[in-house]
Amino acid sequence: MTSTFSTSEIDRLRAMTPGTRHRVHLNNAGAALMTTGVLSTVVDHLNLEAEIGGYEAKAREADRIEGVYRSVARLLNADPGEIALAENATVAWQWAFYAQRFAAGDRILTTTAEYAANYLSYLQIAKRTGAVIEVIPDDAEGRLDPKALEAMIDERVRLISITWVPTNGGLVNPAAEVGRIANAHRIPYLLDACQAVGQLPVDVARLGCDMLAATGRKFLRGPRGTGFLYMKRAFLERTEPAMIDMYGATWVGGDRYDLRQDARRFETWESNYAAKLGLGAAIEEALAIGIPRIEKRVKTLAGSLRAMLADVPGVTVHDLGPDPAAIVTFTLAGLDAATAAARLTERAINVSVSAPSSTPVDGERRHLPSLVRASPHYYNTENEIERLVETVRSIT
Ligand SMILES: Cc1ncc(COP(=O)(O)O)c(C=O)c1O
Repeated sequence: MTSTFSTSEIDRLRAMTPGTRHRVHLNNAGAALMTTGVLSTVVDHLNLEAEIGGYEAKAREADRIEGVYRSVARLLNADPGEIALAENATVAWQWAFYAQRFAAGDRILTTTAEYAANYLSYLQIAKRTGAVIEVIPDDAEGRLDPKALEAMIDERVRLISITWVPTNGGLVNPAAEVGRIANAHRIPYLLDACQAVGQLPVDVARLGCDMLAATGRKFLRGPRGTGFLYMKRAFLERTEPAMIDMYGATWVGGDRYDLRQDARRFETWESNYAAKLGLGAAIEEALAIGIPRIEKRVKTLAGSLRAMLADVPGVTVHDLGPDPAAIVTFTLAGLDAATAAARLTERAINVSVSAPSSTPVDGERRHLPSLVRASPHYYNTENEIERLVETVRSIT
């Protein structure tokens, strides 16, 4: 496997992606385009459910459903027993976070780029328990500063919980360095890898995280309504989910129940097996292409886009950090982000808008307005990037 994508490989990958035919899809940080293989995996299972019955379809496909856990585990360098499948990243993250116990004065350390849903959960737990939220300072380039984190550690730090790649830009936080510090001090470490999976290699052993949550529909190209939680085995064994049902636990008589031994203790009984199978198919496709190759290509496309946008009068690029990932955010002088995105949509170019409220700490500190967000994937082309830039030029 060569590290660069040939034109014929891109053509083949685009032919497997119906959504590339009529639109320039640069909203992969929102939801990437599914391949025909992922789509048919989902549809075939729905058809099977309609033909033979939902429970019967699940029984018939039991091995393939188990295979999805193996695929997620392979993607993360984890064990299948450390994986729980969820309907999105938020739920997976909440399973991990709300299973932690906090007392008054406990410190939760997070990052400037933290995702809003996570931050709201900290606020709720702070209100409920008296725990305090503290934001780790950034370095001069805008990344979480590991030295500053190290200096904050004391016996009251109960959790380090950060976003690796934020929703509002290309910043890549030093997740593995945070892991080394968390592990050295035996502090639980929860990593939001929602925007990282599918575009960056993710190795939980190297990252040193105890818990990691991610979604299926973004850079992994899975169906909507899919996500997963990784919880390290040793950590899992001492973690009781905040909520359980008769899938995650078994009543064993009287007032006793046993939790499942694996991470599926967080799951509930009913679930969308068609979507799960689609997630498994998407992960296998990404692994077959090779995540390091994907990383290289998406960073190259995003890098060209940033460079070209920087030359357009009136455009400001807002991404932070060295070696940014494939999320490019920008503003246009005299044109708000929602109007700009709508004009691009009218011209068959999909982008999205990042509201400052989606990253509240960063939004407030940098006084960010809403940003236009363009997020290329490996199936995008340099031509499409140029088309976006030319269109931006024409609407300003
Ligand atoms: C950094 C980050 N974390 C978490 C989420 C939530 O993911 P989901 O919508 O799958 O719950 C998002 C979604 O945009 C995100 O960008």
